[in-house]
Amino acid sequence: MLRHLMALLLLAVTAGPALAQSEPPAEAPIEGQAPVIDRSATGGAQTLEDILRRQQGLPVDDTFRREDIGGDAVSAPGLGPLGGASDPELWRALRYNEADVTVSTYNKNGRVLVQDGGMWWLQFREGPLRVYGGWLLVGTIAFLAVFLLLRGRIRIDGGKTGRTVTRFQFIERFAHWMMAGSFVLLGLTGLLTLFGRKVLAPYFGLDFNAQLLIASKYVHNNVSWAFMLGLIMVFVMWVWHNLPDRTDLTWFAQAGGIIGNKHPPAKKFNAGQKLIFWSVIVLGASISVSGLSLLFPFELPLFAKTFGILNGWGVYDWVGLQPFPVELSPQEEMQFAQLWHAIVGFVMMAIILAHIYIGSVGMEGAFEAMGSGEVDENWAHQHHSIWLDEVKAMEGSAPKGSAPAE
Ligand code: HEM
Repeated sequence: MLRHLMALLLLAVTAGPALAQSEPPAEAPIEGQAPVIDRSATGGAQTLEDILRRQQGLPVDDTFRREDIGGDAVSAPGLGPLGGASDPELWRALRYNEADVTVSTYNKNGRVLVQDGGMWWLQFREGPLRVYGGWLLVGTIAFLAVFLLLRGRIRIDGGKTGRTVTRFQFIERFAHWMMAGSFVLLGLTGLLTLFGRKVLAPYFGLDFNAQLLIASKYVHNNVSWAFMLGLIMVFVMWVWHNLPDRTDLTWFAQAGGIIGNKHPPAKKFNAGQKLIFWSVIVLGASISVSGLSLLFPFELPLFAKTFGILNGWGVYDWVGLQPFPVELSPQEEMQFAQLWHAIVGFVMMAIILAHIYIGSVGMEGAFEAMGSGEVDENWAHQHHSIWLDEVKAMEGSAPKGSAPAE
């Protein structure tokens, strides 16, 4: 545990600045890490060791290339079917954006001939994203298991009465389950896409992994629409009940009755549920927009503008970083979209794991609210007393018996 905390700290220190630099750190000279390589045999040019280190993702001090861009290649006189004066010079100039070339396409991403940013993106995706994302989910599940062991299931005081009230109408449950079902599928197929090659391919083979990931991608891309529709429906139906009010203060003061035995009064949704609601709405919207940006490549660039706004607020200063890059190639836009989409996905999955816990094993009588739509009166009194009083007042009569949900 301590090791991971240390690693997390290290990540914050190392990955943070990496994200904020316009030059990709993997390609920049890394002092103290890249070994001094004897290049006399190649006359100062790349050696096999340089190439192998780069392929393995090890640090390479590339100043010998970066600072050795020949004069002719910079103007690239021979770029064309007849070939250039020196191909390595030319490609080096292109790679470091020094070549003075004209590209005859209106397609913005076609104008980028060599794009360096892919290396740090690949390393981040294969390294910290997988490691910390994976640990976040494992840690959340472990925490919930320990919590269940220590706290036990939250019971209905005095047991069930047998009398029920309608908590959610059919349309509310439909929207919830459409959003929930699609989220679970999106989460699983997303995890396969990120971990399949590392975790499954060694056991089941590359062919099986490839077929599985093709299917995953198909499911992921198409099911996303159901999630977005469910998200909008849930927002429209429940936003009114999720506006903060003073009952939330009492709820927080009494830790929601989750720790201890008090049951703070609450309306239709208590403060904890409001937090879940707003997390789902904000993170769900963000994951949807970045997902659309990935689904329609290069059509919806989000990050250069967002970084510009954040720089304007001085956000980088608050966290001790350099200003975020505001000039991004179309490919870099896609790389940021992919990373953001995955990071938000992990955070949301962790929150939803806690939600699933409390909506099922963690609390007696909760699941019925989204199952049949009917909850026991004692449950409603214990967890949503103000709401129960309102429902009874509206019915204007004694509590009904176990009437059908709709
Ligand atoms: C898959 C297992 C899931 C179960 C068993 C479950 C269960 C429940 C239950 C029982 C409620 C009603 C609580 C009440 O009556 O007060 C609820 C509400 C809600 N659910 Fe789920 N849910 C699941 C998945 C999801 C997912 C994946 C999302 C979002 C992506 C989600 C979002 C919500 C929201 C926003 C609410 C209203 C706020 C709240 O009660 O926390 N649920 N869920």
